[in-house]
Amino acid sequence: MRSQSLGILGVILALASQSLRAQATSANDAAMALEPNAAVLERGKAIFRLNECNYCHGIDLTRAPRGARADLKHSPLVGADENGNLIGLAVLNGLPLSQTSMPRFGDVITPEQLVDLAAYIHFQRQAERYKELTALPDRPGDREEGKAYFNGTGQCTTCHSPAEIAGAVKKLAAPALKENTLHPAAPAAPTPRFDQGYKAHRKIVERITDDEFLNLLAYLNSWQP
Ligand code: HEC
Ligand code: HEC
Repeated sequence: MRSQSLGILGVILALASQSLRAQATSANDAAMALEPNAAVLERGKAIFRLNECNYCHGIDLTRAPRGARADLKHSPLVGADENGNLIGLAVLNGLPLSQTSMPRFGDVITPEQLVDLAAYIHFQRQAERYKELTALPDRPGDREEGKAYFNGTGQCTTCHSPAEIAGAVKKLAAPALKENTLHPAAPAAPTPRFDQGYKAHRKIVERITDDEFLNLLAYLNSWQP
């Protein structure tokens, strides 16, 4: 009897230490704490965990044991989402027809929670894509394709003229160019232009593909002296 209850205690302790490990902080948690909307991100993370999204998608979106479409770090749907408008369709209705089905959460997740949940997913995706993009092996991109991206899909010209970017590029070393193109360095005092630009750059990090990024770098680097 005694040994049996000790056995149960052992299981409880093992479960407790497992859940402690699941709560362990990551580099992304530290970054979350620095974000102005850290409270939103904390709430979003709690909702993500409470509904066990992490079980099928990974808490940092880095695991996708349920197949390619469950890979929220690379899913085009998540990339195109604004404040939960598309993520919400999948989450509220579920994806019951898929082979490895995703449950519906329409009865448990409120519209307010959905906005926080989406903010958390976008934040994680940006952090993880930033790591992937800056760690891409240097292979030459296509300069013309990069130019087409700059003027087209990337919508870079809404904020930058080629001449202005050329001036900035000439002052940046190659690693800094990669990093600043994804996350521009903040000015000493925040400005409305920077805030708006920073948000746009975060979307770029989420949406740009590996090939598009390498092509863009080839185009930007063509201005290097
Ligand atoms: C039981 C496993 C499971 C759970 C729990 C789960 N999902 Fe999913 N989810 C999936 C699978 C599998 C897919 C891909 C379905 C397919 O292949 O069509 C998916 C797809 C998605 C998609 C659509 C991606 C795309 O590109 O179409 C989103 C967004 C998503 N899940 C978010 C969430 C969120 C947020 C939660 C928690 C509220 C959650 N999921 C919980 C298994 C799950
Ligand atoms: C909504 C506006 C906006 C859009 C769209 C935008 N940027 Fe920026 N970008 C900024 C702002 C603001 C900065 C910070 C420096 C400044 O004020 O110019 C910046 C900084 C940069 C820098 C770093 C310059 C430096 O001196 O360190 C590069 C490189 C850059 N952007 C490239 C791009 C490219 C490439 C695109 C398109 C894929 C793009 N930007 C889209 C607003 C934007």
